[in-house]
Amino acid sequence: MTRSLEDRVAVVTGAGSGIGRGIARRLAEDKAAVAVWDLNLDGAAETVKMITEMGGKAIALGVDCSDKAAIRAAAEQTRSALGTITILVNNAGISPAMPFLDLGDDLFDTTIPVKRLGQPEDIAAAVAFLASEEASYMTGQTISTNGGRYMGSA
Ligand SMILES: NC(=O)c1ccc[n+]([C@@H]2O[C@H](COP(=O)([O-])OP(=O)(O)OC[C@H]3O[C@@H](n4cnc5c(N)ncnc54)[C@H](O)[C@@H]3O)[C@@H](O)[C@H]2O)c1
Repeated sequence: MTRSLEDRVAVVTGAGSGIGRGIARRLAEDKAAVAVWDLNLDGAAETVKMITEMGGKAIALGVDCSDKAAIRAAAEQTRSALGTITILVNNAGISPAMPFLDLGDDLFDTTIPVKRLGQPEDIAAAVAFLASEEASYMTGQTISTNGGRYMGSA
């Protein structure tokens, strides 16, 4: 665990699976109350179940993050249920990629240069740090959490 996020309220969009779920779980582990927003309400509810089973506090909301009215309504519901939102992780997105097993050997070797696959927890640890007081003076930085896949900007 990095820093305590006690008394903080976090919204994590797209937290019904993948990286968002990893971030939501990590912020809850660091004691934030977490609103899990996702188009996929079943996935969001599963994330909340994981968090409550480990003793954390979370709510699930079915939200289409491309719909401003839905976002406003969800923000209001979150404030009513958990309090003022102080952390927003805008993670929801669609990430089309070719199936992993379709990667040829050459592409595999350049895609996974450090010989391991990234895990949601890798991103979650960086987010928990950025949300903490320790990072309160940081602005405008790009933090690469990709195992070295990209070493520069493009
Ligand atoms: N996995 C990667 O390698 C990778 C690489 C670059 C960027 N990203 C980005 O990271 C984020 C998470 O990726 P992931 O791999 O965990 O993907 P994922 O598909 O597992 O999770 C994305 C989640 O976002 C939700 N979502 C999609 N559209 C939504 C909407 N309009 N409103 C609310 N929820 C919505 C989905 O239901 C899903 O639960 C995405 O924004 C993705 O584009 C991922």
